[in-house]
Amino acid sequence: MSLPVPYLSARTLTVVKPVDTSGAERVVNLGLNESWIGPAPGVVDAIRDSAVSVHRYADPGCGVMRATIGREFGLDPARIVCGNGSEELLDAVGRVYARAGDEILFPAYSFLQFAIVAYRLGATAVEAPLGPGFVVDVDALLASVTPRTRVVFLANPNNPTGTAVPMEEVARLARELPSHIVLVLDCAYAEYVDPSEAAVAFAIADRHPNVVVTRTFSKAYGMASARAGWAYAHADVAVALNNVRGIGNVNGMAQAAATVAIGEQGFIGEVRRRTAEGRLRLETQLRGLGFEVVDSAANFAFARLPAAEPGWAQATVARLARQGFVIRSNEDYGLPEWLRISIADRTDLDRAVALLAVEVAAAAPVARRA
Ligand SMILES: Cc1ncc(COP(=O)(O)O)c(C=O)c1O
Repeated sequence: MSLPVPYLSARTLTVVKPVDTSGAERVVNLGLNESWIGPAPGVVDAIRDSAVSVHRYADPGCGVMRATIGREFGLDPARIVCGNGSEELLDAVGRVYARAGDEILFPAYSFLQFAIVAYRLGATAVEAPLGPGFVVDVDALLASVTPRTRVVFLANPNNPTGTAVPMEEVARLARELPSHIVLVLDCAYAEYVDPSEAAVAFAIADRHPNVVVTRTFSKAYGMASARAGWAYAHADVAVALNNVRGIGNVNGMAQAAATVAIGEQGFIGEVRRRTAEGRLRLETQLRGLGFEVVDSAANFAFARLPAAEPGWAQATVARLARQGFVIRSNEDYGLPEWLRISIADRTDLDRAVALLAVEVAAAAPVARRA
């Protein structure tokens, strides 16, 4: 007896990696870029209130959520599509615009989900080379376009590197990219940059009907588990994306929570300020320990210990996890020496840095020999 043959192999491609925290009394997760500040005001009450109607189907068109987002950002709700996290919308773009044999292009060391979207479709994931310091090279991206390119993904700021492309460069990319190719501006970390900068992405989408902007409630709004995101696109593109999303993709509690959260821009400003403060402190501490640190514009730091022994980063992650601090190594991104650490409560981060200092001290003889 044989099993059905899958089109997709059993190869594990996942953004979330399992870690062994056994032995730790308390676990602080600094590995998923969640917000330590918690949900926006009113979110928990909105979820509780809407849970009373859990026996009813929610609005499949997310009408109130879209209208509220539209009002907040001055966007036409008919051009907004809501998703089960923004992840669903990245996948939807792939399913609408690419097929096996097509190419999906993105800068090297981009968010892993972009390669996963291509993999699920049997499309080819193409990575464009970066400039020094993990900075996206728009010219290299444009030079990597071929007749098979159907979708270009750009995460801005990017995960895992944290680097941001200046909006003038993003605008140039949109201008110079052939208009039959979809350009997805994945703005999952947009709340951590200046709101006027973040709003430029919408203006770019207004000028170019092939541009799709995605946003999420998972990060600064503190709603990772609710699974709510949205896309802003040309009206025809929005219709196409609506056709492939799940009908009940955003549950009623998530819709209610997102609708309340979007009005809390004062809170988001506070999240931005506190995150920037924590990031500066963490990056300074890491530099003090001898780490090379990439300038991050998001809610995490990205760093490596130069000349550490191969495998040091993974071993360090494993040892910290057993002491209750989950940070992320990046071998699945092809960056095995690099660590990604979410910004969090100052006391927790100080403790994580102290544990890292011990690891660095143990690695120092090797680093000195190099
Ligand atoms: C760059 C980027 N885009 C999109 C997402 C997906 O977020 P969600 O599906 O929770 O909206 C993430 C999550 O970490 C991310 O880092």
